[in-house]
Amino acid sequence: MKITQGNKEALIKRAATDIADSRKTIALTGAGISVESGIPDFRSAGGLWDKYDPEEYAHISAFRSNPAKVWNMIKDMMELVLGAEPNPAHIALAELERMGLLNSVITQNVDGLHQRGGSREVIEFHGSNQWLVCLGCGYRQESASLSFEDIPPRCPQCSSILKPDVVFFGEPIPPEAQNRSFEEARTCDLVLVVGTSAVVYPAAGIPPLAKQSGAKVVEINMEPTPLTGFVSDYLIQGSAGAILPQIVEEIRRHAA
Ligand code: APR
Repeated sequence: MKITQGNKEALIKRAATDIADSRKTIALTGAGISVESGIPDFRSAGGLWDKYDPEEYAHISAFRSNPAKVWNMIKDMMELVLGAEPNPAHIALAELERMGLLNSVITQNVDGLHQRGGSREVIEFHGSNQWLVCLGCGYRQESASLSFEDIPPRCPQCSSILKPDVVFFGEPIPPEAQNRSFEEARTCDLVLVVGTSAVVYPAAGIPPLAKQSGAKVVEINMEPTPLTGFVSDYLIQGSAGAILPQIVEEIRRHAA
C-alpha cells in the first residue's frame, strides 16, 4: 500500500483511538527511537554495524578475546550517548504513561533515554550502559565514574577488564527483564512497536507473543519490518519523533 499523507493521518487517528480504548498498552522500542537524539541505529544505512562488524565487536567471545579492541566501539557508543538528549518520541511515551495510557516500555536500547525522558516503568531487555561489571568477580561500578583515558577499565578488585552491563550476542537476557517483558506481552491489549527492525530474538518474539495473546500490534517505523503484514495490525511509516507526539495530541484532542 502506498503511504500517503492522508492515510498516515488516518492511521495516527486510528492509533490514538486504539490506545484510548486499550485496557493495557505496552511499548517495545529499538534503536530507531533514539536516532532523532543523534544516536545512529544498527542496521539502517550508516548505522553502527556499517562501522563495526557485530561478529568482531558485539559478541561476548570478541569481548573476551580482544577487550581492548571492543572497548574502542564501546567508547564511541558511550560518547554518542553522553551527548544525547531524549527526543519528542521518548517524551511522548512518558506522557502516555503519565496519562495512564501506557503500562511499561520494554526497550532494547541501553542509552537510558526513556528514563531521562520521564518514563518510569522501563524494562531494559538488553541491560544498560550506565553500569560496568567485572566478568571475573562480579564487581560493579557506575559508568559515569569512568574516564576515557583509562580504556579498557580494569576491576579494582581482581584487575580483570570491566564490561558495560549490556547484553552482548551470545549472552543471556537478564532473567528478570525477560520474565517481566513476556508477562507484559501476554497480558496487554496493545503493543506499540517503535523503531526496531524486529530481527533480533528473543526481543523480536515479544510482538508475536502479544498477538497470540489477543493484543493489537501497531508498528511505528521508517520502513516495513518482518512483522509488517504478518504480526502487525498496521504500520505508521515515518519518524517516531514526529508520529508519537501527533498520536498524543490526537488523544488529548479527543479527551478534551
Ligand atoms: N523513527 C522510527 N523508526 C526508525 C527511525 C526513526 N526516526 N530511525 C530508524 N528507524 C527504524 C529503522 O527503519 C529500523 O527498522 O528503526 C529500526 C532500527 O533497527 P536496528 O538498527 O536493527 O535496531 P534494533 O531493532 O534496536 O536492533 C535490535 O540488535 O544489534 C542488536 O543489541 C542490538 O538492541 C539491538 C538489537
